[in-house]
Amino acid sequence: MKSAPSLVSLSLAAVANELLRGDDVLPHVYELPADLFDALVARLPPLGLHKLQNEMPKWKRDEYDSDDCFTNGRKRTRNGSFSDAWRSLYKQRWAELVEQVQPADWRQAYWEMHLQKCIDEAAEVALLPSFDGKLGEIRISDAMLKFLGYEGQTDTSTPKFSKLYQHCECFGHYMRSLRLRNVLCVEETCHLLKNSRLESLVLQWIRTKEHVQGLCPLLLQNCETLTSLEFIHCKLPSTSIGSICASLHVKGMQSHGIVQFSIQASSFLNSNSVLPSEFLSFLSCGRHLYSLRFCDAHLDRDSAGSIFTTLFDAASDISILDLSDNEIAGWLSSFTWKYKDSMVSSIGAGKSLASLCALNLRGNNLHKEDADNLRHALAHMPALRKLDLSDNPIEDDGLRHLIPFLVEASGKGFTLADLSLENCELSSNGVIEFLTTLSTSDIPLSSLSISDNSLGSHVAEALVKLLSSSIQVLNISGVGLGSSGFEELQKVSFKSLKLVKIDISKNRGGIESAKFLSKLMECAPQLVTVNAAFNLMPPESLTIICSALKAAKGNLGLLELRGNNLDKPPNDASLLVDLQRDGRLRIIFESSPTLDAPYDDDP
Ligand SMILES: *[C@@H]1O[C@H](CO)[C@@H](O)[C@H](O)[C@H]1NC(C)=O
Ligand SMILES: *[C@@H]1O[C@H](CO)[C@@H](O)[C@H](O)[C@H]1NC(C)=O
Repeated sequence: MKSAPSLVSLSLAAVANELLRGDDVLPHVYELPADLFDALVARLPPLGLHKLQNEMPKWKRDEYDSDDCFTNGRKRTRNGSFSDAWRSLYKQRWAELVEQVQPADWRQAYWEMHLQKCIDEAAEVALLPSFDGKLGEIRISDAMLKFLGYEGQTDTSTPKFSKLYQHCECFGHYMRSLRLRNVLCVEETCHLLKNSRLESLVLQWIRTKEHVQGLCPLLLQNCETLTSLEFIHCKLPSTSIGSICASLHVKGMQSHGIVQFSIQASSFLNSNSVLPSEFLSFLSCGRHLYSLRFCDAHLDRDSAGSIFTTLFDAASDISILDLSDNEIAGWLSSFTWKYKDSMVSSIGAGKSLASLCALNLRGNNLHKEDADNLRHALAHMPALRKLDLSDNPIEDDGLRHLIPFLVEASGKGFTLADLSLENCELSSNGVIEFLTTLSTSDIPLSSLSISDNSLGSHVAEALVKLLSSSIQVLNISGVGLGSSGFEELQKVSFKSLKLVKIDISKNRGGIESAKFLSKLMECAPQLVTVNAAFNLMPPESLTIICSALKAAKGNLGLLELRGNNLDKPPNDASLLVDLQRDGRLRIIFESSPTLDAPYDDDP
């Protein structure tokens, strides 16, 4: 039987309602006894809570803060605090996001997100042919108003919040990060957001001169606070990028405050054009610049080359440079010509990109000559830890250009730890040479991917040696190991492999791949993640894996087995269930949805 509402809850509902409609009741609310006040805080809709918190008189705030402090000598957060209430409102509205954000202030996070939703809604309206051009006058939908506590536009008490400009006026100062579509890149947006101190701005579909003209004042208005700027699906010819960069310079300073700058899935520059001087000075005088991304930005060899040389000549403190998915073969040829003699001996000496720790060159159609040029450039990156060369046809010869450099550099404190060479058209000859060097030199590699190269089973012997080195993450997916390769791999005998994560998927390993897995569980106590999908494992593999799992006292958290012939788990399937329930282990099969269910929803 449903119990009748208590008198208290009815009264609280009435007070909550009254708070939205006027100010009469407000002074009396602060006089409520603490338990009733807390109960009210916990049930107010956003606008009521906002008002209650804003208008709180000093005496009440003092009382509130002192309650917050110490109980029995231990710091404790008051139950029913404003922060809890805001978090819970956020969770009610954006449940899927609540675990991802870690705001210092839940109220700020709530209103920032609310305003973003209003702005997104306005963008949809502004796209319609019937739109009259006045952004601020766009009506906010009933659905949105209901979240705030109103019944919608028909609610007579709504006029204060029926239009976009009212939301901007009230909540604009909570806005720190904003995502803006092209239609909203107009002068009026700058006016609407005049209270905002934007730190992060994501721009989508900026394609015309008008968009850029609308955007620049907004950049100028926020140039002192803006640290992150991202362009997605934009078309940014030289003149545009020039004006954008010019708007970022803080007045009276030779610098700008941008920390992260990213251009993605966009076309950048006109063909054959030189980089505009504003952009070059943006690169060279960015003292705070930490990460630069030009990913799928239609960069060509010359523009990529100038970006690199500009950063290099300015001895930039940049840490992350991502040039992936462009067409830049030959990009380092003029750099190499200039600095041909700078080999490893010059590491740390002369000009350098001293802080660069991650370089992403994935998918750039680089060839062996580029690998040759690259080693000259690498000599100037003493802090490089992560290099991604995947999806470039550098072939064995390209790899051979890098091997001697890596060996020599490791003796000089060069700390490359993470190397990706996926799909580089490597063969077993090149890779065996490379792996042998790795296991006999001091290169402190902890992560290596050589997946998607046709290497065949011969590479297995060298892999066994690699496994006993310092390697923690290894990706050998799709390298054609076959069952003979996995048979060889079982020779791994060292009892304390450092391995944490391994991908052996797509290797047609059959039952031998299951035997290797069981060997691995015995030898790698720190193993957490294994992908063994698509290996044609026959049904009896499951027994092997199960008993290995049972014997191992490891930390295995995720085992991918999909795409094998394990659809019908045998009798000891219940053992599997036990294994999964016991610890934090999750095993993924294809056609066993019950075992597939994630265990992250523990009560
Ligand atoms: C806080 O208060 C709410 C209702 O007022 C109650 O349901 C909850 O159990 C309390 N939590 C703690 C930790 O006291
Ligand atoms: C291994 O490489 C393949 C592609 O080359 C990729 O799809 C896969 O995600 C990688 N595995 C891991 C664990 O990163």
